[in-house]
Amino acid sequence: MRQFLNIVNLLSAAPNSKMASRMTFVAAIAVTLMLISSAPAQCTAEEFLWGTATSAYQIEGAWDVDGKGMSIWDEFVRRNGTTIKDNSTADIACRSYEKYKEDVQLLKQLGVNSYRFSISWPRVLPNGTLAGGINEKGIQYYVNLVDELLANGIQPLATLYHWDLPLTLQNEFQGWESEQIIPHFVDYAKLMFERLGDKVKWWLTFNEPWVFTVLGYGLGAHAPGTKDLVNTVYIVSHNLLRAHAKAYRLYEKDFKPRQQGKVGITLNGAYVLPKNTSSELDKKAAQRSMEFSFSWYSDPVYFGDYPEEMKTRIGNKSAAAGLPKSRLPEFTAEEKAELKGSSDFFGLNYYTSSLAEHKILSNDGGYYDDQDIVSTMDPSWPGSGSPWLKVTPFGIREGIKWLSARYDNPPLVVTENGVSDNDGTTSDQHRIDFYREYIGNVTQAKNEFKCNVVGYFAWSLMDNFEWAEGYTEYFGIVAVDFNDPERPRTLKDSAKWYRDFIAAEMTTQAPATTPKAGSIVTAALGVLTMAFGLALSLAKLPF
Ligand code: GAL
Repeated sequence: MRQFLNIVNLLSAAPNSKMASRMTFVAAIAVTLMLISSAPAQCTAEEFLWGTATSAYQIEGAWDVDGKGMSIWDEFVRRNGTTIKDNSTADIACRSYEKYKEDVQLLKQLGVNSYRFSISWPRVLPNGTLAGGINEKGIQYYVNLVDELLANGIQPLATLYHWDLPLTLQNEFQGWESEQIIPHFVDYAKLMFERLGDKVKWWLTFNEPWVFTVLGYGLGAHAPGTKDLVNTVYIVSHNLLRAHAKAYRLYEKDFKPRQQGKVGITLNGAYVLPKNTSSELDKKAAQRSMEFSFSWYSDPVYFGDYPEEMKTRIGNKSAAAGLPKSRLPEFTAEEKAELKGSSDFFGLNYYTSSLAEHKILSNDGGYYDDQDIVSTMDPSWPGSGSPWLKVTPFGIREGIKWLSARYDNPPLVVTENGVSDNDGTTSDQHRIDFYREYIGNVTQAKNEFKCNVVGYFAWSLMDNFEWAEGYTEYFGIVAVDFNDPERPRTLKDSAKWYRDFIAAEMTTQAPATTPKAGSIVTAALGVLTMAFGLALSLAKLPF
């Protein structure tokens, strides 16, 4: 606007009518350019994302409907000897496959501007591969969901892999244990970019590789139930990182120029404190612990290779065990180049902190022993409905600061944050307190410490199937009655609090948006045009 006033001033000061007409012509161009630059944007990628999150297996149900193939979780919950706490399955879950329109209305009531969901790979490719055939009905479900979101002004953020691997790929070559999976994942990603990429502008390749690697292939507590912390966890992680990089590069080359979306990966970890704050060894152990969780994945994604601490420690332990080479695989030069910088934003799932104590551990336990750390929790930290989750709001701020410093302040989206209880009560003041404190710390990281936080998603939109804990731990801000076949939903107090909180945030945020790169360019063009106009008006030209 200031530039516009400058033009008016110039016009009124023009010494004759010819000059005034030239200047009017030029000013019209300049003003048009400036008006374009200040036009209110629709839901742009630059807007702070306030959302809620879910995943396909945890909410959809319809496990064998409309041509969907089986996932490793469909098999895992049926396997004899598998310990799902209440012996439940997600066969029906929240019935979101049928009730997606109702879910979108819930989102609308909450006033969120974005929604994070995941796509079930075996729902769209029942055998996991293109050769095995595309399930058009499955794809249509996600097209419908995305259309419904957009029609309600809600930006979709889609996760390609939230742990429900097509069972066929596990049966054929042990899933992520084999590099044979990489081209199949890339085919699947390509199919989704093709079918949904005109509408979905935020993509995540993987949700929490650490969890499905360590719990799924290391401890056997999650599907596929493999127990090998010594070698398999490192191989699985290696393969998924290579698959991530290939999917990222594919999007970058073949889709991004036209679709203009962003691709990232979502990582989890704790902000770790030294158990003994005056022990240098414990301080180093705390750093190392975060390198063995976050940086195991984020160092390859940002720097192209595993953390030195992991390479050295696992290398030394492998040598001491008489192995010819390290149990931690190596990336080729080409893979390093493909990985380095393979993320447009950092996806962070954050829940809890922990304490690290330095201790040299035995040499045969694999992943945990490789770290030489004893990990504990401070007994004074308040608990939740999940033994692993202690309420430590400072941790999300410190975790964001730690990651932002290490990776040069990348755009960061908190893709999950939330707390559980064991009864699913709608009078959940404890959850309101949790969100107020955690979001407050995220805001502090953003405003005070200038971390580039660009979004926040509450886990979860609704109570759902909590993996090995079945329906015994509830994270939803919306309650679901699992005893009623209709699975009715009810807003909890925390949902109402979140609704009011983000409404206030969006109102205060609106006028203070930072100028977008495009606007700066157009504004600069406007100013140049004005300067050109001034030169014209002073020159002796025939019009
Ligand atoms: C995350 C996971 C979610 C959800 C949440 C609460 O690890 O991505 O699916 O289960 O934890 O435990």
